[in-house]
Amino acid sequence: MSITVTWLGHGCWSIKTEAATLLLDPFLDDSPTAPIKADQAEADFILVSHGHFDHVADAAKIALRTGAAVVANFEICEWLSKQQGVQKTEPMNLGGGIAAPFGRIEMTLAHHSSQLPDGAYGGNPGGFLLTLGEKRLYFACDTALFDEMARFQGVDLAVLPIGDRFTMGPAAALQAVQMIAPKFVAPAHYNTWPPIAQDVHAWAKAVRQQTDAAPLVVQPGESFNID
Ligand code: NI
Ligand code: MN
Repeated sequence: MSITVTWLGHGCWSIKTEAATLLLDPFLDDSPTAPIKADQAEADFILVSHGHFDHVADAAKIALRTGAAVVANFEICEWLSKQQGVQKTEPMNLGGGIAAPFGRIEMTLAHHSSQLPDGAYGGNPGGFLLTLGEKRLYFACDTALFDEMARFQGVDLAVLPIGDRFTMGPAAALQAVQMIAPKFVAPAHYNTWPPIAQDVHAWAKAVRQQTDAAPLVVQPGESFNID
């Protein structure tokens, strides 16, 4: 199965298989680096890692237009359905997984926070481990480095934040690559605004020199395939 992964800037990714299009952490209309607007986004499933505006911002709008189901923790699903009128949700929580038509989604630990934009409690922040056919894709989303990341050893793709300040920075993300030893690694959550500006090419060079993982550095709007 070929999987097309497109970076939509910041923490937002499109993951497309023959079975479904997944949209992770939609932040498009107000993102300075997003290559598309929310009304152009495609989705059968929308995954939301935590409640911060730069991850949940366009989830309801896109869900209402496309009819996509939103996959998020219980609290965010409740908020999206009660406050934003989202019809289809798949509530879950850390350590749990669900079988979806395209594969399995597991919500993984993240060390971060998760307040929703209106101040509502957003539950625990998470990441996602996707099993799509034979492939395993780990999206760490917003998190600090933590030892249990070793659990994801050998995934086909790891997507890690490198922006620093609010999440892991380049040095911690490099340690994560050493721990996870993924086949491919892609950086996220950097260069959206000056406080999280990073030299991604220096980071990719360090990944090539110090790990066996292949870094995939793309610009917002660009894709790569995992097959
Ligand atoms: Ni966050
Ligand atoms: Mn964030």
